[in-house]
Amino acid sequence: MKSVFISSTGASGYIGGDILSELIAKYPDHSYRVLVRSQESGQKIQKVYPGVSVIQGDLDNSELLTGESARADIIIHTADAADHLPAARAIAKGAIQGHSPDRPVYWLHTSGAGLLSFHDTENKIYGERSEIIYDDLRDIQEILSFPDHAFHKVVDKAVLKAGTVSPTTLRTAVIAPTTVYGKGRGPCYQRSRQVYEMSKFILENSQIPIIGKGQAIGSNIHIHSVTSLFMHFFEVALRGEGDGTIWGPEAYYLVEEGEHCWGEMAHSIGEIALERGFLKIQPKEIALEMDSAQELAGFEATSWAYNMRCRASRARSLLGWQPRGPSLEDELPGIVHEEFERLKGK
Ligand SMILES: NC(=O)c1ccc[n+]([C@@H]2O[C@H](COP(=O)([O-])OP(=O)(O)OC[C@H]3O[C@@H](n4cnc5c(N)ncnc54)[C@H](OP(=O)(O)O)[C@@H]3O)[C@@H](O)[C@H]2O)c1
Repeated sequence: MKSVFISSTGASGYIGGDILSELIAKYPDHSYRVLVRSQESGQKIQKVYPGVSVIQGDLDNSELLTGESARADIIIHTADAADHLPAARAIAKGAIQGHSPDRPVYWLHTSGAGLLSFHDTENKIYGERSEIIYDDLRDIQEILSFPDHAFHKVVDKAVLKAGTVSPTTLRTAVIAPTTVYGKGRGPCYQRSRQVYEMSKFILENSQIPIIGKGQAIGSNIHIHSVTSLFMHFFEVALRGEGDGTIWGPEAYYLVEEGEHCWGEMAHSIGEIALERGFLKIQPKEIALEMDSAQELAGFEATSWAYNMRCRASRARSLLGWQPRGPSLEDELPGIVHEEFERLKGK
């Protein structure tokens, strides 16, 4: 077994933690270095994985990120990766400085499919259904040509560009999950965002939040399937494959395995909560504007209003990835239950 240095950020988080747990389960002999900003998270990680080296620091410490990227063979960046431009720049700098065509480095960068809601965000359309479904093979040029103010775009662009500077030295792929659900397996944080926040809102307020007509549709993906895609990339990197179709300027990978309508999901959550006795009275629908939704339920509520529909053809076709997670529909009762228990314990 080759000894590989893997630098990973966000190991205390939901996606990064799940990836780390799977990497260590499958490849226990590699050397893992994880960047963690709190001492407490670092201790938790080392308790579960004593062989992992914990590096204390945060994304604003560019020098540290550059140094770690220079020594790594594979970089897995998840910590606020979709939106932190200085961190992406620091990683790019170290990756190029520390490597050569004889010793290339692979950068698996986590973004988000929020980019695809551009038409809605730009035109302030909330809760209307769109029939546009972006396919990351067929529509890649359209996806890559969203303007810089679209969600995550500036960072996505910087990462893909870094991969074109010296493609035999630095190979990049941008991995953009849709709404992620399912319990994470990481050592610290195991809860996702949008669906969980919606469940929390309904349980706390006994109200079904509907923004606009409530008809916007999102694509979704189970956390194990997100991790399985990272594992595919990881294995390609371990084999040292530099195929220009897998990496390079078009290496933008959407990650989905299903779709849901946000308004219908809010109603399903309400029904589950009532049936299981988590709510005592029938929750009532509440019509929300975007501003009031954010005020009441925080930033995650914005996604309840936007369309984000896509097909992850690139990973299926180029990497043979097959997502096999349980569907969001099947997981929903468990999610509502978990949120109920979590809120009870607060
Ligand atoms: N979850 C989803 O549904 C979803 C979908 C699409 C895209 N994404 C994207 O995927 C990435 C990871 O998301 P997630 O759900 O795993 O988030 P998360 O559970 O909140 O984890 C975020 C991780 O980033 C770390 N972090 C944040 N800011 C940092 C900083 N300034 N310095 C060092 N570490 C920092 C956190 O460290 P602490 O433990 O110290 O807080 C944590 O380890 C994000 O960019 C997100 O936008 C998520």
